[in-house]
Amino acid sequence: MRMYDLIMKKRNGEALSEEEINYMIKEYTADHIPDYQMSAMMMAIYFQGMSARETVALTMAMAHSGEMMDLSAISGVKVDKHSTGGVGDKTSIALTPMVAACGVKIAKMSGRGLGHTGGTIDKLESFEGFTTGITAEHFVKQVNEIGVSIMGQTMDIAPADKKLYALRDVTATVDNMSLIASSIMSKKLASGADAIVLDVKTGSGAFMKQEADAFALAKEMVTLGNMAGRKTIAVVSDMDQPLGYAVGNALEVEEAIATLRGEGPEDFTQLCMTLGTYMLIAAGAAQTEEEAKQKLSAVIQDGSALKKLAEFVQAQGGDPKAVYDTSLLPKASVAEAIVSAQEGYVKKIDCDEIGICSLLLGGGRETKESVIDLSVGLILHKKVGDFVKSGESLATIYANDRVKLEAASARFMKAYHFDDSQPEKSPFIKGVIRE
Ligand code: URA
Repeated sequence: MRMYDLIMKKRNGEALSEEEINYMIKEYTADHIPDYQMSAMMMAIYFQGMSARETVALTMAMAHSGEMMDLSAISGVKVDKHSTGGVGDKTSIALTPMVAACGVKIAKMSGRGLGHTGGTIDKLESFEGFTTGITAEHFVKQVNEIGVSIMGQTMDIAPADKKLYALRDVTATVDNMSLIASSIMSKKLASGADAIVLDVKTGSGAFMKQEADAFALAKEMVTLGNMAGRKTIAVVSDMDQPLGYAVGNALEVEEAIATLRGEGPEDFTQLCMTLGTYMLIAAGAAQTEEEAKQKLSAVIQDGSALKKLAEFVQAQGGDPKAVYDTSLLPKASVAEAIVSAQEGYVKKIDCDEIGICSLLLGGGRETKESVIDLSVGLILHKKVGDFVKSGESLATIYANDRVKLEAASARFMKAYHFDDSQPEKSPFIKGVIRE
């Protein structure tokens, strides 16, 4: 088989066979196919698309390109959760202890932030000493003992995707439905969980800007998961403005903790309750949505979800005292209000711009090697639909550097758009794909 022939076949709009896809992924992972040929293939796929059968073959080939985690040493149903990424997305920090406190085992792999979106691992490192660099043995033991663990993506999980994603990132071939679906699902299948709940974001801060594309991606991933024998459910949720009010690592951890105390923002609480409901149902821990919601509300009210977060933080080397005393989390030296020069209703917020403000403050990475400042970020005071008087505060910026603060606040001002009339509220949860 020759890669040249496969590129020409795809370029001409023909479907690749399973054997051809397996060859291409195996040889590319082994560095036997150069990046320039794979770039040409990605561009051919971008323009010609892939059939459902090809997408399944690509997903399975990438999932099997490295280690398939064996979680059979963990008793019961293991559930994983994955978000397609957004701004202010601190969901895993509140959701995983909530679900674990209901008796469901969470064995999850997470990533770091890149670009304008944050990553769960960076946020969790706001707890001094916390690490996700644990061994597979530690991971399994911890899930058996306390019901929850989050580890970093190891080199051995879906290495083909690791190489391909980096290549797509620099060849303008990321936003293709089959490539995104196979990239996410190959990692999830290789991570070994029995059930997967996906949070597919849509809107200006998301990868899928259009709702129809988010639904198509959700359907594709649910089909892939179920075909591989994993119970898979996808929730499509809004990312047209930041989730909750906090954007920035330690600030988001603080908001997740407030949510576990029952004092969280409405949208974020709704998201945790919705994803939690489907995680409980997927694990067989609740039969109906109502039963699941009751269980999740109970663990917030009796404090057991918050206690589970403290146990989880401690089990991975972090300081659990910060769960009960958030003044122990990293704090920025300067807090400055951004006041509105205009009056009116907030009509729209350019969500990715808010993510970039946090990045400019030092809260995100410009490159994979950048060291991030966990303490910086923003707390929004106004969201879409809120009325703002001239001179009223739109947000507080937390910074450690005045030059960065000025750059972030100039950018922030351009992200808010106003109108004289109140915009219509669109639903936060856009839909659920179960089959
Ligand atoms: N997230 C992934 O893991 N892969 C993609 O292709 C897009 C988002």
